[in-house]
Amino acid sequence: MEKKLNKLIKKWEGRRGNLVMIFHEIQNSYGYVPREVSMKLSRMLDVPLATIYEVLTFYNYFKLDPPGKYTISICMGTACYLKGAGRVLKEFKNILNIQEDETTEDGIFQLNTVRCLGCCGLAPAITVDGKVYGKVTKSQVADIISEYMDKESSGE
Ligand code: FES
Repeated sequence: MEKKLNKLIKKWEGRRGNLVMIFHEIQNSYGYVPREVSMKLSRMLDVPLATIYEVLTFYNYFKLDPPGKYTISICMGTACYLKGAGRVLKEFKNILNIQEDETTEDGIFQLNTVRCLGCCGLAPAITVDGKVYGKVTKSQVADIISEYMDKESSGE
């Protein structure tokens, strides 16, 4: 890991916004910014860890938790919002016991919101790992989650 970080530091040395660019590359390779990488970077660059976290939390693009195995994306675009996406999102949050941009403790589900999935005719729409579910109602949420829990327990 240290070798990789050294390479990144060299690549962005002396350039504006280099810390942000380094984090972009880290997130691209890990899917998030692991705490141990931030700690190592803090030591290597001699930048306090608190400063690193200030940067990371300022841009909510950066993920501090590992991505879940299944990514649930709830569309909150206008069409979906008007057709009840808020209720669908709330139900996912309640059942999974997480907020947006969080991953369940078991690492199975990650919950995101997006602007538009490009299938507004199916509003409210969601995707789970790219699979589209249209005209989703609050009462279907538990079934959608179960579908993936079943996959998980059958080892698919
Ligand atoms: S607004 Fe939801 S799919 Fe377009």
